[in-house]
Amino acid sequence: MFALHVGTFLIFAAFALLIVASISAPTVAKIDFLHVPLNNGSSVRFGSLGFCIMSPDGNSCTPTGVGYRIANEISAIGIDAFNSAQAATLHGLTQALILHQIAAGVSGIALLLALGSHRIGFLFASAVAFLAFLIATAVMIIDFTLFGTVKHHVDRNGGSATFGNAIWMVLAAAITLFFASIATCFACITGRRRTRRTRAATGTY
Ligand SMILES: *[C@@H]1O[C@H](CO)[C@@H](O)[C@H](O)[C@H]1NC(C)=O
Repeated sequence: MFALHVGTFLIFAAFALLIVASISAPTVAKIDFLHVPLNNGSSVRFGSLGFCIMSPDGNSCTPTGVGYRIANEISAIGIDAFNSAQAATLHGLTQALILHQIAAGVSGIALLLALGSHRIGFLFASAVAFLAFLIATAVMIIDFTLFGTVKHHVDRNGGSATFGNAIWMVLAAAITLFFASIATCFACITGRRRTRRTRAATGTY
């Protein structure tokens, strides 16, 4: 019973983390993967489906969409431009950020399965949690590649970029899903063994 609840709780925690990372800028400017402070007191906050310029007197954000021109924004704030090949690669990587929403959705399905299952159903919940782990890990690698490249470039060209809260949430979600998948599978195995033992004891097996 304990392992069963631990697995379900871990899936829930990862799901919540991925939902928060999914509603990053431009939906919620304060949740970002990377931010760059500007000299005028504003800061640019890059999220999964766009970005915001956060100012003391209000935010101005891009529309929500798959993929955005991150390199253009870097030159717009006065940092040396990326070359066009790099800019195209970075744009391609921003399109893959939709995997955050997909990982959140798959975790949600794993959560529903874990809540609605008993015994063998947990094996299925565990498999779906493992799939969510794979997607979350893939997007975490993309996050660190994309935002790490931009951070390195900004830092080398007179700016100073900082990883935001969302990137650590995705890292935490990926680790959590790994253990969630194991704990849920464990619940399935021990649950089945217990049932068999109970049946044997009552003589119905
Ligand atoms: C600071 O500069 C950025 C772009 O250069 C601009 O979008 C933003 O509105 C400015 N902030 C303030 C407070 O003037």
